Amino acid sequence: MDTKDFEQTLVLIKPDALRHSLTGYVLSQLSEFHTGLRFAGAKIVRVHRMLAEEHYAEHRGKVFFESLLEYIMGASHYPDEEWKRRVIALAYVGPGAIQKIRDIAGPTNPHEARVKRPGCIRALGTLFPVKDASGTVLDERMDNLIHASANPADAEREIKLWFKPGDLPPAMRIYESRASDEHYYYKEGKLFTAYEPGSVCLLAPGNVAWVSDIEALRLLAGGRKASCSLEAVAAKYLINE
Ligand code: CDP
Ligand code: MG
Repeated sequence: MDTKDFEQTLVLIKPDALRHSLTGYVLSQLSEFHTGLRFAGAKIVRVHRMLAEEHYAEHRGKVFFESLLEYIMGASHYPDEEWKRRVIALAYVGPGAIQKIRDIAGPTNPHEARVKRPGCIRALGTLFPVKDASGTVLDERMDNLIHASANPADAEREIKLWFKPGDLPPAMRIYESRASDEHYYYKEGKLFTAYEPGSVCLLAPGNVAWVSDIEALRLLAGGRKASCSLEAVAAKYLINE
């Protein structure tokens, strides 16, 4: 198969879809019958803050950012039932995967989605007011049921952020991976190459990781700058920990 037949994209079924029992609907809209795409990976994720911040890094500093983190972490839709806070992360593979799923998802703003593409998934979304401490409405957050990667660079960054190579069947891994030669541990924003009490082991020798992660960890451990932040690598190893 040609590499373009193996295009991959990340989909998140967001907490509003789970809360409103629209998971089955979303999955059927994205099914192989409708899209010709196949599952490459799937996991139920309790989204922690570091993962939320990394996933939406491009929106850091915007008025709706904090509210967006609460949304993707499930705190908005499950304020009193913490155990229900989760998203479903999916990797789809197949020709034109990115654009096909963006088209079925529809425009970001649910109002616009209803007008411009009736029948798209996001036409079922809602707008949620973003308020300051005094209750003044500053903006509206778009609760639009589904995340879908926007372009090949985003898809690569996002699939590597949410999935380890071992989460995908070997024949469906399109990004380079290899075994680590080193130990890497993470604790409170710092990286270590030997065990520190209270640290989490990100990688041990023999663990298969994305080559870009291994390269970033090697540079960061040597006190150098890498192509991505430590958090962008560590976030995925802390999923469901
Ligand atoms: O998800 P999409 O790629 O279509 O849009 P984005 O511009 O990358 O924004 C990511 C997410 O942030 C959106 O899906 C919305 O949930 C949220 N957002 C928002 O609440 N208000 C905005 N003005 C822009 C985005
Ligand atoms: Mg986007």
